[in-house]
This record gives sequence, C-alpha cells and structure tokens, in this order.
Amino acid sequence: MKHEVIEKNIGLMIVLILVVISGGFLAEVVPLFFSKDVNQPIKGLEPLTALEFEGRDIYIREGCHVCHTQMVRPFRAETERYGHYSVAGEFVYDHPFLWGSKRTGPDLARVGGRYSDAWQRMHLYDPRSVVPESIMPAYPWLFDRKIDHTRTAAKLEAYQTLGVPYTDEQIANAASEVEGKFEIEALVAYLQQLGTVLSTNR
Ligand code: HEC
Repeated sequence: MKHEVIEKNIGLMIVLILVVISGGFLAEVVPLFFSKDVNQPIKGLEPLTALEFEGRDIYIREGCHVCHTQMVRPFRAETERYGHYSVAGEFVYDHPFLWGSKRTGPDLARVGGRYSDAWQRMHLYDPRSVVPESIMPAYPWLFDRKIDHTRTAAKLEAYQTLGVPYTDEQIANAASEVEGKFEIEALVAYLQQLGTVLSTNR
C-alpha cells in the first residue's frame, strides 16, 4: 500500500530516486576521490616523452583502441597471458584513458618490450608477414609520413594544465625532439613503453 502512494506520485518518486542515486554516489564514487590507490601514480611512472606522446596520438587517430584494449583484468587467464593486472596508478597521466572494451586483437596494456622494434615495424607494415593468420589491417603510410612537430609543444602544455608533470624544459624541447621523425618511430616508441613501469617494479 505504501508503495502505491509513491507509484502514483511522480514528484515523490523523483525525490526518492534522487535520494537513492546520491546515496549510491556518496558510498561508491566519492571515496575514490580520496583513495591514494586510484589517483596517485605508481612508483617510477613518468609522463610520456614527446615522441611517445605523438605515438599515442597516432594510436588514437588510427583507431588501434577499437580492436585492442589496454586493461589486464585481475583473472588468472589474463595474468598468465598478459602479465600483472592493470592498476589505476598506471593511468593517472592518461587523457583520455584507452582501456577500451573490445578485443578483436590481444590486450596491449603490457606489450612494451614483448617484441623487438623490428618486429613491431614489420607487423605494422604488413601484419601477415609475421603473423600469417592475422586479420589486423596494415599501416604502410606510417613509414612515409613525418610527425607534425608544430603542435607537439602545445599538446604537452595542455597536458601540463591537466596536471601531468611536464617541465617547461620538456615542453620547450618537444618540437625538436620529434621534428623530422616518421610516424612509425613515434608509434613504436609508444608501444614499447606500454605497461613496463609496473612489470619492472616487481
Ligand atoms: C581490425 C582490428 C585491429 C586493428 C584496427 C588493429 N589491430 Fe592490432 N591486432 C589485431 C589482431 C587480430 C591481432 C592478432 C594477430 C596479429 O598479431 O597480427 C593484433 C595484434 C597486434 C599486436 C601484437 C600483440 C601481441 O601481444 O601479440 C600489436 C602490437 C598490435 N596489434 C598493435 C596495433 C596497433 C598499434 C594498431 C593501430 C595502428 C592496431 N594494432 C590496430 C587487430 C587489430
């Protein structure tokens, strides 16, 4: 009977829904803002170098995250295949996060150092040359295109504003660090550092 009163009074229903949602938010989300585990970088985590940073932008531009996640879940099947499960402190400098949700290809959260640079280049130039059954697209243009160095400094500066600890010196040197380099160099540099801080820590 009491429930009928709520169901027939939309105003009361709205108020009670708001109470329930705010209660859930207070209990589940607010504590995370104050928990060190989820908002402090893990030991040894450094912001990406200018070259790795440009590589990350290419990774986003080419849609690598559409087929690849960057999130090892804490299950045995995952940790045996990919390595230590992902922890929040690995991603505090990531804007936006590239965790993804669909694995057409393997997870890449710990792919850094798993293959040589040469393997990565061949694989991106022609995936079938190293993995014959692969359905991954080829990215040959990364080998012809130079990085647009004119915007690198501004990008790092934007990240500095977001709280990523780039020094002014790093920003000043950003353009010269990537000028004249090919996009493939940036992308491979980015891939080779993925997930390496935690695995070398332990
Ligand atoms: C259409 C889906 C798709 C897209 C888009 C894609 N990949 Fe893949 N990727 C795969 C599949 C499937 C595999 C597994 C077969 C292989 O190794 O080629 C793979 C494998 C890989 C591997 C080897 C991982 C391992 O642990 O063996 C790397 C590294 C990789 N991809 C990087 C990239 C990068 C970088 C991009 C963007 C430039 C990209 N992929 C875009 C599907 C994709």
